[in-house]
Amino acid sequence: MDRRSFIKKGVIATAGAGIGINSLFASSCAGANDRIVLALVGSGGRGLGCIINCCKINENVVIKTVCDVNKTKLNNAVAKVEQELGYKPSATEDMQEIFDDRDVDAVWVATPEHWHTLATIRACQAGKDVYVEKNPSINIWEGRKMVEAARKYKRIVQVGFQNRSAPYGFSAREYIRSGKLGKIVTVKCYNLLGGSKWSERPETPVPAWLNWDKWLGPAPMRSFSPSIVDENGRGDWLSYWAYSGGGLADDASHVMDLCRLVIGDPPHPKSVYGWGGNHAFGGSSETPEFQTIVYDFGDFTLSCDNAYATNYMTKTPGDIRMDKTKFPNWRNNATRTEIYGTEGMMYLGRHGGGWQVLGPNNEIVAQEGGVFPDNEHQINFIQSLRSRKQPNGEVEECHRSATLVHLGNTAYRVGNKQLLFDPETEKFTNDESANKIARGSYREGYVIPEKV
Ligand SMILES: NC(=O)c1ccc[n+]([C@@H]2O[C@H](COP(=O)([O-])OP(=O)(O)OC[C@H]3O[C@@H](n4cnc5c(N)ncnc54)[C@H](O)[C@@H]3O)[C@@H](O)[C@H]2O)c1
Repeated sequence: MDRRSFIKKGVIATAGAGIGINSLFASSCAGANDRIVLALVGSGGRGLGCIINCCKINENVVIKTVCDVNKTKLNNAVAKVEQELGYKPSATEDMQEIFDDRDVDAVWVATPEHWHTLATIRACQAGKDVYVEKNPSINIWEGRKMVEAARKYKRIVQVGFQNRSAPYGFSAREYIRSGKLGKIVTVKCYNLLGGSKWSERPETPVPAWLNWDKWLGPAPMRSFSPSIVDENGRGDWLSYWAYSGGGLADDASHVMDLCRLVIGDPPHPKSVYGWGGNHAFGGSSETPEFQTIVYDFGDFTLSCDNAYATNYMTKTPGDIRMDKTKFPNWRNNATRTEIYGTEGMMYLGRHGGGWQVLGPNNEIVAQEGGVFPDNEHQINFIQSLRSRKQPNGEVEECHRSATLVHLGNTAYRVGNKQLLFDPETEKFTNDESANKIARGSYREGYVIPEKV
């Protein structure tokens, strides 16, 4: 047995029994059960939880390195991996070390949104596969560059739109494809979350636990505010256009992405009308407290109401998300989709909750329950790495879902307007200021090139 086969077959079982730490990670995926070596970029609650879970539910998958620019979170992440998986990963604040490491097969990107695309492109250029959290891009142009990089370097890129791996999503899609709802005429997506008045806290010197320059990365340089980044929690980077697409990117993106999957993944819409503002509480966040968006898909419309203002609505409760036999109370469900055809309508939950088709007398015509599909998505990622088949959260389809977020936000940002969109060029045809937003700009040292 050569060294490589020995490592692939035996090391993980003996990881705690004194074998050198380097041999645990010295492998690369090529066949059905080969060891897969992961590295994490962004060790906040989401990234760390997911990558550890991924190692637990898949065979022969290990984490070699964790990277974070927040020292507190980095140290916590190393300790947590050791506690949960029984070995200590290495730690760095520079993601380039991960890209340069030949042992690493795939990079798990779970930073705030403004880093997603650049980190993914650099990982692809270094020959790594990628799991990148949603929203995968911060503007339309860079989303297309991410697709180009995945194609050019022949990488697997799984976007963290995990509903794409939900069995109940596939059955809903099949139900609609079979024509039982008739012709789809309109689809209504809701993300009606609670909120309160938000204000930025005063700027302070950069804390010792943070590499602020690296945290900002491609975003413009500015002074530190404790409102943006938190030492232990998430911080409120979702309130700023430089780092995110707000609630529309954070949560409504899941609703719209699952909806796109279920109705057969339509191409880009022809136009978007977006309206929004901070009229609920009068807060000062750049990303709005409330938005209503309407997309024109030619022969049907899709709308999305997105709020951090409706405190009485409820997300699908945890017990329903984890139980295939239970369904949400759709009327006050904050994250439901309603799909109206000429013959019937479907309620659809995201992150579990399943779907139900209602008849004219409020009777259930068809239904399937569904649970939170994180495990399925993580298993699908690892299977894709081994089979080299495209994953469920394939990057181009997810770019189209992410584009709905960018279209809606752009229509709001240029003054609550209707914008006409050319699906071929991915550019607006009636507003140049909208095209500037769609293109974005990058700080020196963090520029995404035209040619990836
Ligand atoms: N798919 C889902 O259901 C789901 C759920 C929650 C969060 N998310 C997404 O996951 C991502 C992370 O969310 P979170 O709640 O953990 O946020 P977070 O802010 O707590 O974590 C992000 C981490 O990235 C780190 N970071 C920033 N710049 C970095 C850099 N240059 N190099 C290395 N690390 C860097 C931060 O210090 C922070 O620890 C977000 O994009 C979020 O939208 C997805």
